[in-house]
Amino acid sequence: MRQIVILTGAGISAESGLGTFRDVGGLWSRYDWRDLATPEGFARDPGFVLAFYNWRRERVRAARPNPAHEALARLQRDWPGGVTLITQNVDDLHEQAGSTGVVHMHGTHLTALCAACGHRWPAPEVMAAPDPCPACARPATRPDVVWFGETPYHMERIGAALSSADLFVSIGTSGTVYPAAGFAALARKAGARTLELNLEPSENADLFDEARHGPASTIVPGWVAALLG
Ligand code: OAD
Repeated sequence: MRQIVILTGAGISAESGLGTFRDVGGLWSRYDWRDLATPEGFARDPGFVLAFYNWRRERVRAARPNPAHEALARLQRDWPGGVTLITQNVDDLHEQAGSTGVVHMHGTHLTALCAACGHRWPAPEVMAAPDPCPACARPATRPDVVWFGETPYHMERIGAALSSADLFVSIGTSGTVYPAAGFAALARKAGARTLELNLEPSENADLFDEARHGPASTIVPGWVAALLG
């Protein structure tokens, strides 16, 4: 077994204080994702959407990695084969922990995106609807995050990694949002063993050959230590 592909979700950052989407008290139990995470919601009320992401960005900037992020960085460093780290998270806690080449399939809070010309630049602390793009000057600034109805980033690269994976590991994700929820099935079809590390069985728990349940800050370092021997 050489090639490991890891998918992380909000659960890995929960113990860093960032909360999740679908747990009790999660973001989508308090807010309507149709208003905050769709291009239509943004078109209806850009000021409201940007205020929400300004608040989220502030929380992300204050957050620090926990032992689960640190363990994955150690695995990337010490594993003799390849470790591809794909995240649905828009925080930078994997990078803060020392991980490299992290594939941010749902974008990141740390850059801004021009909806008119596609230019990206470091996100300002506060983003406002009429902010002009530094490249084309049009007032089309938006968060560089993928919304429902949009295509996640880096799908070609992810497909290639899944097709050559020996082990696919899903960490801290509910398995409800596609295409990420389909990665375990794709990896399995390509011959990989599949492992789930999550607080509780996810929606697609039947796609995993093995599962360990508990808080990421405990079960991820335990799994990495066992793997590295
Ligand atoms: P969810 O909120 O759907 O799921 C989080 C998962 O983490 C759940 O299965 C929890 O049981 C688990 N969990 C919670 N605390 C944990 C802990 N301390 N340790 C381990 N596991 C824990 O979040 P995601 O699956 O990441 O998309 O959500 C997927 C996407 O839906 C997000 O990327 C976001 C959201 O809408 C976009 O914004 C495009």
